[in-house]
Amino acid sequence: MPFAHGTHEKINAGIKKILIPEEKILTRVKELGEEISKDYATKNPILIGILKGSLFFLSDLMRAISVDCCVDFMSLASYSGEKSNGIVRLLLDLRESIEGRDVLIVEDIVDTGLTLSYLENILKTRNPRSLEVCSLLSKPECRKNAVKTKYVGFNIPNEFVVGYGLDLDEKYRNLPYIGVLK
Ligand code: IMP
Repeated sequence: MPFAHGTHEKINAGIKKILIPEEKILTRVKELGEEISKDYATKNPILIGILKGSLFFLSDLMRAISVDCCVDFMSLASYSGEKSNGIVRLLLDLRESIEGRDVLIVEDIVDTGLTLSYLENILKTRNPRSLEVCSLLSKPECRKNAVKTKYVGFNIPNEFVVGYGLDLDEKYRNLPYIGVLK
């Protein structure tokens, strides 16, 4: 159920334009959930939500998946303001082993691809049965590292976006849509 128009006025003031409205996000997330449910029909995948940006995407996506699945979380840091500093750090690791499991990384956005390739390198050493990526957003123009994203919600241009979990210095995450800052 989308939020009523006219809410979040104070936060909306920092936004130049709405890139992806809430209704479009929710429709696409349901499609991704259906696709994942088909692909994993005989499996029990573990979704790994990358904090904090994937929080709403993960919770909507997980509810759109109709096969048995589990969830765990990791947290990585590489951004300060609108710029990546290029050095990725692991802040929070998984609770459970992923050995022999079908792992699906759930990301908010793939930009340079540095975070994702760092993450994939760590997870591959833990011998999952399969390892795939589902990212809500992707900025293909910005790629520095080639990464394989099996499921992508939307390809977007090279603009810094916020909302639906994505932030600028911890602000704007609670916007129900994806917007471009002023
Ligand atoms: P990458 O390592 O450059 O691919 O960046 C991945 C991470 O940077 C994402 O998981 C986000 O946390 C953050 N990020 C990249 N682009 C944006 C953006 O446009 N808005 C908000 N966060 C972003």
